[in-house]
Amino acid sequence: MPEIVTVEDLVEVYSDGTKAVNGISFSVNDGEFFGFLGPNGAGKSTTIKVLTTLLKKTSGKVVIAGNDVDKRAEAIRKVIGVQSQDTVIDQDLTGEENMMLQGHLHGMGGEALKARVKELLSLVGLSDVAGRRAGHYSGGMKKRLDLASALVHSPKLLFLDEPTTGLDPQSRAAIWEYLSKLNKEQGITIFLTTQYMEEADKLCQRLFIIDKGQVVASGTPESLKREVGADSITMTLEDGAAASETKDRAKQALGGIPGVGNIIDSDGGLTVYAKNAGLIIPDIVRTFDSNKIRLTSVSFASPTLDDVFLQHTGRRIRPEELEAKSQTFQRFGAARRPARQ
Ligand SMILES: Nc1ncnc2c1ncn2[C@@H]1O[C@H](COP(=O)(O)OP(=O)(O)O)[C@@H](O)[C@H]1O
Ligand SMILES: [Mg+2]
Repeated sequence: MPEIVTVEDLVEVYSDGTKAVNGISFSVNDGEFFGFLGPNGAGKSTTIKVLTTLLKKTSGKVVIAGNDVDKRAEAIRKVIGVQSQDTVIDQDLTGEENMMLQGHLHGMGGEALKARVKELLSLVGLSDVAGRRAGHYSGGMKKRLDLASALVHSPKLLFLDEPTTGLDPQSRAAIWEYLSKLNKEQGITIFLTTQYMEEADKLCQRLFIIDKGQVVASGTPESLKREVGADSITMTLEDGAAASETKDRAKQALGGIPGVGNIIDSDGGLTVYAKNAGLIIPDIVRTFDSNKIRLTSVSFASPTLDDVFLQHTGRRIRPEELEAKSQTFQRFGAARRPARQ
């Protein structure tokens, strides 16, 4: 598959000295669904702005569909569609008028444009409200209109900057469906940025996880999660007066089970990371049983992309959402070791 995006050692320093992008290299293949996953301030929007010719890079090399960004910006603009992070629709125009305006800006017109607008409004499920003022649309509808507007000139490469941030789960799922369709059925290459690991996991064939202007990890969602190398097993214990004493004994017991890694103690119970949860859980149950520790539940989950980010940076991608779950990791083994004399 030929490369449609090539980026080598991209650096972007803003005029106030902020180094937003600090030497990023990657390429996107024609037809690929490619993603940048990273927290707020990672440098995602800055990268998209450079790639879409909206911002001049400080240094590095960027080639889009065979065109160098420094020399052939005009040619690049013809083949790309851009949905920026902030909505660009005109609140006073109807959905349909917004689309027509976009078409005119791309030099389109006549019946062909009308047909294209109709088709796209239907694709994003806005046909029924096409005649209503966009200012009255919900957040999800505005994002869908933005997406449709970015497609009006039939770009072969689509840049989407956090297309679902701030949306409710239902609107998010709807956008995921349209994006999958565009990629699979129409062969449009998609470059998407997101701070939602579920979104990156579900949509992207290949991912770059970025933080502070640099690449933290890259690969397919599957390979990235495999790198974590452990499932998480979460147990809850019987509550009661002796709960904390029970928990301490449970930690002791867990620490003695071969294959059990980090132990995290949270209000919800105890979580451990282990290479193969399916094999370890019976050991845990047996050990607890012989120590008279009563389990009320055991569940296990495969690693997520957030675990990947956590391992590389020590932080969560979206701490505001995961605060409740985030715990300090402690090495149980160290706590059990008798103090040196
Ligand atoms: N116009 C600007 N001037 C100075 N700093 C900026 C500007 N735009 C963004 N930044 C800074 O650059 C860094 C990366 O920002 P951005 O690319 O918007 O990240 P993301 O899109 O991943 O949230 C942040 O520290 C941000 O505050
Ligand atoms: Mg951004």
